[in-house]
Amino acid sequence: MSNKFYVTTPIYYVNDVPHIGHAYTTIAADILARYYRLKGKSVFFLTGTDEHGQKVEKAASAKGHKPKEHADIMVENFKNLWKRLNISNDAFIRTTDEGHKRIVQEILQRLWESGEIEKRSYSGWYCTPDERFWTEKDVVNGVCPDCGRPVEYIEEENYFFKMSNYKDKLIQYIEENSSYIQPETRKNEVLGFLRTQTLGDLCISRPKERLSWGIPLPFDENFVTYVWFDALVNYYSATRYLANPLIPPLERGGEGGLEGGTQVEITGWWPADHHIVGKDILTTHAVYWSTMLMALEMDLPRNIFAHGWWTVDGRKMSKSIGNVVDPNKMIDNYGVDAFRYFLFREVPFGLDGDFSEQALINRINTDLANDLGNLLSRALTMIEKYREGIIPGPINSKDRDEWEKRIQGLLAKPAVGVSPGNVFDAFDVFFERLEFHKALEHLWSIINFLNEYIQHTAPWKEKDQGTLSNTLYTLAEALGIIAFYLFPFMPSTAEKIWMQLGIKADIKPPLPKWGDLKIEGIRVNKAEQLFPRIEDEGKQHKVVSKQTRDIPEALEGKNLISIEDFAKVELKAGKVIQAEWVAGSNKLIRLQVDTGQQRQIVAGIGKSYNPDELVGRTVVVVTNLKPVKLMGVESEGMLLAASDGTGIVSILSPDKEMPPGAKVK
Ligand code: MSP
Repeated sequence: MSNKFYVTTPIYYVNDVPHIGHAYTTIAADILARYYRLKGKSVFFLTGTDEHGQKVEKAASAKGHKPKEHADIMVENFKNLWKRLNISNDAFIRTTDEGHKRIVQEILQRLWESGEIEKRSYSGWYCTPDERFWTEKDVVNGVCPDCGRPVEYIEEENYFFKMSNYKDKLIQYIEENSSYIQPETRKNEVLGFLRTQTLGDLCISRPKERLSWGIPLPFDENFVTYVWFDALVNYYSATRYLANPLIPPLERGGEGGLEGGTQVEITGWWPADHHIVGKDILTTHAVYWSTMLMALEMDLPRNIFAHGWWTVDGRKMSKSIGNVVDPNKMIDNYGVDAFRYFLFREVPFGLDGDFSEQALINRINTDLANDLGNLLSRALTMIEKYREGIIPGPINSKDRDEWEKRIQGLLAKPAVGVSPGNVFDAFDVFFERLEFHKALEHLWSIINFLNEYIQHTAPWKEKDQGTLSNTLYTLAEALGIIAFYLFPFMPSTAEKIWMQLGIKADIKPPLPKWGDLKIEGIRVNKAEQLFPRIEDEGKQHKVVSKQTRDIPEALEGKNLISIEDFAKVELKAGKVIQAEWVAGSNKLIRLQVDTGQQRQIVAGIGKSYNPDELVGRTVVVVTNLKPVKLMGVESEGMLLAASDGTGIVSILSPDKEMPPGAKVK
């Protein structure tokens, strides 16, 4: 396996400010870059801006600026957002960089000399906002079939790249390289298009009198190159003048070699491992760029991945509706890591998704505050309480063996072979397919297993000091390893976890094995909660601190239980699948309930309910009760119901639809 990894985002137009769509693509590339760095690869992560073309020229003149002045201002919006989103790009390319322009011209010259470019007279319908020509049959009612805006009829001479020559070769290439275009459905769309439509040649120039803001053709000064031709070349040009040298190390010249403009020629990074793009720009990448590379006799990228689009509350984002999601606001309100987590946990990468702040808040409150945040804070509180804040060493204890073995199996890569369920192997598979949501789901199944482990071991009751030490050590080591795997998704949260565990090192390769973190004997640093819960008060979302309050004196000694005691009761939402009378009883009803798994419950609610009216209802179930037999029928749990003392009961149900197995806390 190659030790280099090169990932790109699209380069963004500087005619507008960044929104959630831009943030999405860039965070995806960042997750990949961070993960492969942790795997010990040499990574080149490229993002940047697309600064030529009519759109930018128009946006600039609307503000009374020259195009480059406009780009210089707008580019800062992207750079600032990437800083706030913790984007770890190695370089930032601007298509106005001298280095880029020179390489675009070199490529044009090569294609011209090898006869791949030809001058022809041309007429067609031109859509200015989209900067592309349409044929007669595409245009209905004088508007662009893509954006719906008016098109104009233009006749002129232009230069064409003979793209049509590569149609068969491209079809064959996509068929033979099954992971070239992902996801599969998008690959099939591209193949369908190529097999059924005529692939024309690509007009790659614009006459200077119509568009001056572009890179001049080296063989004809009266024309500039088409914005997509210029833009796509960035993925290659950056490897020549912006990338860090690979082996052998070459000298890098100039200040800020990664910020554009330097003239050091560096090779070795091409081809890219992944081009991450949105579905709307898949054709330009899969067809234009692939055929350009074929004509240049260059390697094609290993993969082009097209992700879906975000809508907002079910509607397309648009300035006129005023529903464009500003990532800066999301960071201000919810924090950068919660936003990053949400985007990649909520919707499988590749599908369209709907953005809602309520869904984001739900994720923060359940996955981040409850599952992860509480796990860390409970572990640290117990280390403080029972071991004066020092992480104890592991001791072999027989009775807990099974749980601890399982935890180690989930988190520690075995010396040989693949172990299913182990995070190391699971992440490899999910990252290979860019299934980010599955990677997170997997990690959360381990986090929740650790929460169950705390319930099961009940350290607050443990008398054996060795066993207690072992539990606390296991929790700390597990959290340390979990932080490693969280790092690509939520870098500052992962760092906070290490900081609170008292680990001073940076998170860097190699991925740790069980025991590698050497945390035994270090002092923990319990600090503020990782993710305070957010309470929804009307539209004002309030961050609620969960600092433990002092118990008022008046309540002291009144049979109070601690939060740990309450946490021993496992409550879940369950859906009633079946209900029938227990034979011979007019009070007991036998229910089959789905609480994530099917269980049988016998409930004494017959005075208030008929079996029929219970089916389909969502109820609240105590799921960790010892099974008992009632009139000879086994009951694996209990329903919660309010009772007025006369035998009349009212079953508790969540007031919104909840999936079976949802935790009740
Ligand atoms: N400049 C071209 C790309 C050239 S790449 C050689 C361009 N720029 S863009 O500024 O319009 O933004 C492109 C990226 O933002 C695309 O990947 C696009 O899919 C993404 N998104 C724009 N709106 C989006 C959503 N609503 N949701 C998700 N991503 C979307 O195209």
